[in-house]
Amino acid sequence: MSNYHIKHLEEYFQVYRKSIREPENFWEEVAEEHFLWRKKWDSVLDWDFAKPEVTWFKGAKLNITENCIDRHLATRANKTAILFEPNNPNEPSEKITYEQLYKRVNKFANVLKKQGIKKGDRVCIYLPMIPELAISVLACARIGAIHSVVFAGFSATALTTRINDCDCQMVITSDGSYRGAKTIDLKSIVDEALKSCPGVKTVLVAKRIHSKITMKTGRDYWLQPLLDEASSDCNAEIMDAEDPLFILYTSGSTGKPKGMVHTTAGYMVYTAYTFKNVFQYKESDVYWCTADVGWITGHSYIIYGPLANGATTLMFEGVPSYPDFGRFWEIVQKHKVTQFYTAPTAIRALAKEGVELIEKHDLSSLKVLGSVGEPINEEAWHWYNDNVGKKKSPIVDTWWQTETGGIMITPIPFVTPTKPTYATLPFIGIQPALMDENGQEIKGNQVEGRLCIKFPWPSIARTIWGNHERYRETYFSAYKNNYFTGDGALRDEVGYYRITGRVDDVIIVSGHNLGTAPIEDAINEHPAVAESAIVGFPHDIKGNALYGYVILKDVGETRNHDNLRKEINQIITEHIGPIAKLDKIQFTSGLPKTRSGKIMRRILRKIACKETANLGDTSTLLNPEVVNEIIENAL
Ligand code: PRX
Repeated sequence: MSNYHIKHLEEYFQVYRKSIREPENFWEEVAEEHFLWRKKWDSVLDWDFAKPEVTWFKGAKLNITENCIDRHLATRANKTAILFEPNNPNEPSEKITYEQLYKRVNKFANVLKKQGIKKGDRVCIYLPMIPELAISVLACARIGAIHSVVFAGFSATALTTRINDCDCQMVITSDGSYRGAKTIDLKSIVDEALKSCPGVKTVLVAKRIHSKITMKTGRDYWLQPLLDEASSDCNAEIMDAEDPLFILYTSGSTGKPKGMVHTTAGYMVYTAYTFKNVFQYKESDVYWCTADVGWITGHSYIIYGPLANGATTLMFEGVPSYPDFGRFWEIVQKHKVTQFYTAPTAIRALAKEGVELIEKHDLSSLKVLGSVGEPINEEAWHWYNDNVGKKKSPIVDTWWQTETGGIMITPIPFVTPTKPTYATLPFIGIQPALMDENGQEIKGNQVEGRLCIKFPWPSIARTIWGNHERYRETYFSAYKNNYFTGDGALRDEVGYYRITGRVDDVIIVSGHNLGTAPIEDAINEHPAVAESAIVGFPHDIKGNALYGYVILKDVGETRNHDNLRKEINQIITEHIGPIAKLDKIQFTSGLPKTRSGKIMRRILRKIACKETANLGDTSTLLNPEVVNEIIENAL
């Protein structure tokens, strides 16, 4: 027996030990008992972190959609697979059963095929949180096309970069999207992006807001008429265990975004197994993750993990504040949601609104609360625990990353005693290590260091699309034979982990990873700007906000600084998206630099955080005098 469902702490320790001592036997049993394979594997795990190379279930054949859809038809054909809750509360919600999902995915898959998409081709999906988003993801997987979902809040320039990086042939989008009281014209963003994407032959357009848009003849097609004509039977393409399933871009501290490549079998096994245990999912539950499918959380824990378990997964199109800040609670009540998984930034925004909106709703269906994306601060943790969970629904503070594919460090609800701000214990099969600055592992408890993972797990990203050397350099070069996460963490007296935050130049704003370099590159495009540096500073709701230090070409620039600030944020919005806008912009005559010309961000960070009492060692600075100027004019 593979212990697919862990129910008490002793069992967790026992299964954990087994997963570490005999990882191959352990994962083989899980894979064998709970999934549908067209052919079994020749070997369970082959790996070498020095290369780096990891393969799971080598030689196995499968299709993930047969596991997420077809195999449930015998017992769950009429069960709701996807429960769609629209932006507007007056519009009816939609229940898509497993049988309907099967037909809709197959129709979509046939449309893709008819448009010439084949196994291995890349398809960019730029859609709001509507059913077509999940369906198009699954349709790609059905025919073996590699989906690359781009969050629909990204700008045209960001979309262009992502489309071209992996040579997408097709873009799937909509005429627009609803976001609270606003509508967003997605199609014109796509049109703008495609001016510089010669490889895109076809654009499929879903109708959502019924706005008047322009369609380019021979390139753009309305989706619905094509679906109407398509057959609802489509054989699943038989995939190899290690065939790429999707590419998902994540920011790096330098350079262009990294297209993380996830493959088929290991990703499926790990997301399904974590979903079952981390949310203690039971057959009649209604599970809701508020993330967008544009991020890894949506891929793994709105679509693949839940559907692989035959679950009902809720997809919400809107925002927590529309029509008011009670919307989340209204949805929990309306659909009797049992598991609710959200981000600390949302919790803080909701907490600010007080508890009245919660008290108006019946939240008694809730059993498990989740948190993901950034460290959850103590105040937010207690607010969530007391008011939403009524001290009876455990909070699972789940730590993981786009690169890890699935949840890595987390409590198991009703199994692991929780502790505020702690992600607690490694999940089954995960071997964390804390490292010191010299690359040595720090053993024992009550220690702090850089978080690495020592041993492969099934859903680790296999490469960066088109740049395996960057993959090696980013994740496997800092600590020999270890995957380096980029995060710092501490381990307490009982071995619980608390993630302390990024130790590189990635800043997490409202749960979104933002690299400093791409934002600086965008700012430097402004004709008046000579140089810039971005750091993070604490923010009540966003967790972190961005602080920019900008040197103007003409130091005596007479133009109004407020106008310049607006223009700089406008450029950032155009290059990346509104999520990367700066909260504070300080104009300065210089930036503190080392003799080798590197900006000393540590000092800029301290000034932005108003911690100027102890700036640390500034003796290696080329221009120490600039520090006082920056402190005096700090915002
Ligand atoms: O710094 C960690 C933080 O988010 C980073 C990963 O971001 P991304 O790839 O966008 O994936 C987010 C959703 C999985 C991590 O390196 N992070 C994520 N979850 C937590 C967290 N930090 C603290 N606690 C968490 N629970």
